[in-house]
Amino acid sequence: MLRRLARVSAAAAIPCAVARCSQQQQQQQHAPINFRLDGKVTIVTGATRGIGHAIALSLAESGAHVVLTGTTAEGVAAAQQRLVDAGPGASCEGIAFSVASEAACKAAVRRVVEKHGRIDVLVNNAGINRRHEIGDFPTDDFDSVIATNLSGPFILMRECSRAMKEAGYGRIINIGSIMSTVGRENLHAYVASKHAIAGLTKSLAAELGGDGVTVNCVGPGYIETDLTRPLQDNRVFDANVCGRTPVGRWGRPAEIAAPVVFLASDAASYVNGATIVVDGGLTSSFHFHPTRTESGARPPRWVPQ
Ligand SMILES: NC(=O)c1ccc[n+]([C@@H]2O[C@H](COP(=O)([O-])OP(=O)(O)OC[C@H]3O[C@@H](n4cnc5c(N)ncnc54)[C@H](OP(=O)(O)O)[C@@H]3O)[C@@H](O)[C@H]2O)c1
Repeated sequence: MLRRLARVSAAAAIPCAVARCSQQQQQQQHAPINFRLDGKVTIVTGATRGIGHAIALSLAESGAHVVLTGTTAEGVAAAQQRLVDAGPGASCEGIAFSVASEAACKAAVRRVVEKHGRIDVLVNNAGINRRHEIGDFPTDDFDSVIATNLSGPFILMRECSRAMKEAGYGRIINIGSIMSTVGRENLHAYVASKHAIAGLTKSLAAELGGDGVTVNCVGPGYIETDLTRPLQDNRVFDANVCGRTPVGRWGRPAEIAAPVVFLASDAASYVNGATIVVDGGLTSSFHFHPTRTESGARPPRWVPQ
């Protein structure tokens, strides 16, 4: 009996033993870490401004062909032009559609696959927020946040996953939030959508990892964009963000683009199902440091150039 068990466990161990390689083989296989994305076909939703635009710019700088999207043709064309102006030779095109429309999401993916024959990277970045106390939260507002932040990304992932599975390669990156792990008053639809996108990231990572497709999420903290303009302009809230964040300031869109480029690259080939929180330490600490002087001025902080 014991011998039979030993035979079974030895047989079960064979695939792993074959997959594992010796130290010598590992040394021979070592190649420099590659963050480049040359020739990769990438889609970035909500790339007309803010975080999405910074992601599109960074992907293009890393050599990718970028399909920028936004809700209006004018917005998309202007963003495309800004990308070209920033880096002459940037390879990009634009498609205007709302991620809240299933038909439009399907048509956009079909168009990219027909034109390029593949989609290597999908970045689900487009997002909106609505703020109301629960007693006054209109159902329409709840539904539109869920449609934009959750259902749209789900449909785009489903449509892109077919082409990615067929190619045996793909990178899906969802833009979640610190609200993917914590809650906040008045943000009920947003918090629900961002928790759900982190969960969807995990279930798809489990299903698609074996097909060469990784699915990850980036969770930004407070970043200076149009979305947070009312909060930036609120002196009390601004002081709170700066005081509670160990880094002592709001984040920049480019600081979210950096981990997206990493996750899109071959350097992240073994990262799957993760949510990378990028919040200056806000949610990992119980930090409070008053950042304003008596006169209301903020002391200077180190900011990357
Ligand atoms: N800013 C932050 O502090 C922060 C923190 C955590 C997470 N996030 C997340 O990061 C992502 C980007 O945020 P952001 O601050 O850069 O926002 P933003 O400056 O308001 O930009 C939003 C982008 O999404 C697009 N968009 C909105 N609704 C859309 C729809 N139905 N279909 C297609 N595109 C749509 C907008 O396109 P148009 O120009 O056409 O409207 C725009 O390009 C969002 O998912 C957000 O939840 C942001």
